[in-house]
Amino acid sequence: MPTRTADRRPRLTRVDGPEELRRRCDRIRAAGLSLGLVPTMGALHAGHRQLIQRSRAECDRTVVSIFVNPTQFGPAEDFDRYPRPLDTDLAVCTELGVDLAYVPSDAVMYPEGFSTRVNPWGALAETLEGARRPGHFDGVATVVTKLLVTARPDRAYFGHKDAQQCAVVRRLAADLDTGTEIVVCPTVRDADGLALSSRNARLDAAERLQALAIPAALAAADAAFRLGERDAEAIRDLVLRRLAESPGLAVDYVAVVDAETFLPVTRMHVRCEILIAARIGRTRLIDVLTPGTDERLAVGVGG
Ligand code: PAF
Repeated sequence: MPTRTADRRPRLTRVDGPEELRRRCDRIRAAGLSLGLVPTMGALHAGHRQLIQRSRAECDRTVVSIFVNPTQFGPAEDFDRYPRPLDTDLAVCTELGVDLAYVPSDAVMYPEGFSTRVNPWGALAETLEGARRPGHFDGVATVVTKLLVTARPDRAYFGHKDAQQCAVVRRLAADLDTGTEIVVCPTVRDADGLALSSRNARLDAAERLQALAIPAALAAADAAFRLGERDAEAIRDLVLRRLAESPGLAVDYVAVVDAETFLPVTRMHVRCEILIAARIGRTRLIDVLTPGTDERLAVGVGG
């Protein structure tokens, strides 16, 4: 008679504090296993799923952090309104075979007396999102550094939609000798082309239609690039014209930059990114495209 084999699927362990996280991650490394980290603020959607699946495919164990980080929100931003569906997020982690879910409270992450900040500086951190959201990248860099120091993962996974964040994190991981490889995964899009974001849930049907001008403008720029256009200003103008066709959309910026330095370019090259930030009603959306790549084809199932 066949014997029943035990279910070997790893079970999700919820961890609430840095000491336990460090102990468990140390144990994973001591066993000779590789570790992937997926930092998130929860409200997990198909974009996060892709990051988790990539980590699961490339690493022996995966830790997902779920923490709505107060230090990266400005006073007029949506920290209080940010969605926090923790039970659903933990169910997603279980479904995807995540090993550890790190869910610290604000008081655990930033205890009484906390007075250290990681401050990325220079064009990379001070332009575009950095200029419009003062202190934002300090908050991101501080929390990501804390996660890297505690978990010491072999790889950490980020979505390309937040392109400037990816560049800042890549820089800090190198500058602070963390030894962690920063893996940037393609933007996941809904079937209509809108880049997935936890903030999309706030768009009503009419606003969502207006928002589609963003991927449409990027697609137009990509088509022009593929036809040989290399003048960055011409590409920028094209994007602005396309966005202007959506009257409900207020453009914050359109920029064509070098993907590593985030300095504006005049001639397009293979490592350029076209960035858009725009507001629709009370919702601010960002999107990015590296022209000439397949990234625009990374359409997800939504969520
Ligand atoms: O991209 C995010 O969700 C956040 O900025 C991050 C990287 C989890 C840091 O709080």
